[in-house]
Amino acid sequence: MKAAYIERTGPPEVIRIGTLPDPQPGPHDVLVGVRAVSVNPIDTYIRSGAVSIPLPNPYIIGCDLAGDVIECGPQVTRFRPGQRVWGSNQGLFGRQGTFAERAAVHEDWLYPIPDGMTYEQAAAGALVGITAHLGLFLHGGLQAGETVFVNGGTGGVGSSVIQLARAAGARIIATAGTEEKLSKCRELGADCALDYHAADLDDRIRDFAEPTGGVHLWFETQREPTPDRTVALLAKRGRYIVMAGRGARPEFPIGPFYVKDLRMIGFAMFNATPDEQRQCARAINELFAKGGWKPLIGRVLPLEQAAEAHRLQEANTLGKQGTLIGKIVLTVQ
Ligand SMILES: NC(=O)c1ccc[n+]([C@@H]2O[C@H](COP(=O)([O-])OP(=O)(O)OC[C@H]3O[C@@H](n4cnc5c(N)ncnc54)[C@H](OP(=O)(O)O)[C@@H]3O)[C@@H](O)[C@H]2O)c1
Repeated sequence: MKAAYIERTGPPEVIRIGTLPDPQPGPHDVLVGVRAVSVNPIDTYIRSGAVSIPLPNPYIIGCDLAGDVIECGPQVTRFRPGQRVWGSNQGLFGRQGTFAERAAVHEDWLYPIPDGMTYEQAAAGALVGITAHLGLFLHGGLQAGETVFVNGGTGGVGSSVIQLARAAGARIIATAGTEEKLSKCRELGADCALDYHAADLDDRIRDFAEPTGGVHLWFETQREPTPDRTVALLAKRGRYIVMAGRGARPEFPIGPFYVKDLRMIGFAMFNATPDEQRQCARAINELFAKGGWKPLIGRVLPLEQAAEAHRLQEANTLGKQGTLIGKIVLTVQ
């Protein structure tokens, strides 16, 4: 099968496009004919070696996939050949990745694609949708009527946070870097969209959040968190969700934090159990059926351009180039 893989970590140029043996599904695995995959920042950290984890060699890159069930191992109970499926959380913990014509995926990490959802949409919303759901609900305990703040409202995670928080009846403040992206944030469901370059950004967050006593849930998507200002803007009993920036070591205002009964919660989506991730996937599928889930796709490329896709993702997430609105999706076959 055709695959995008690496034999050593390094810059995007280490990604090879070539032929690898088809994977053999184990008893609990589903053999998926992959139709679309999407790129996540973690794919680039693993490929570059910035996140150092044991990898099979060759290592097929990628976490997300969408495609068709070709074959099921004898112990598979949830799927049957011919079904359309999406999934995430691959390429980690010794598992092979998804950027290939075929992937053998444990049934625990797969979900049906609802009618009307394209393979591209399913792949685009996979890891980021599960991440946003875990952060808002499992970790953040979001309630209807609360105020949510998210940075980067047209980014992979940010655009998912807006849509899921909106469906939960929250008031949403999102930031973005251009006028076009701000209007996209509003289209996705943000009640208040603010340019993160604005000198009076915090005053405007405060103005909007004041009626609810401040921000109840701050979903930080940036690798350089800002605890001083975030703690100041949070409401009493607010939750500060952090999930990016492994190297971040900011100063932390302990006093202002505890006197407001705040909580800070960190998480990584790949730690969530199969049941927890399946609950998120079910909610996402249900929201799609109601018209409330529209994964943002910024670029569609063929699998052969996996290295280019990594360059583009890196230029945006790490280089902050701002040239992307939404996810990079690769079509496989
Ligand atoms: N812990 C986990 O489980 C988990 C899961 C997924 C992702 N992550 C991490 O979360 C981060 C975001 O992932 P992603 O996929 O959403 O990345 P992404 O699609 O590249 O989005 C990054 C966003 O950051 C925004 N941004 C850039 N500079 C900003 C600034 N100064 N202030 C506010 N926003 C700014 C960008 O907005 P503009 O385009 O408008 O400039 C863009 O929307 C990454 O570091 C990733 O590794 C963690």
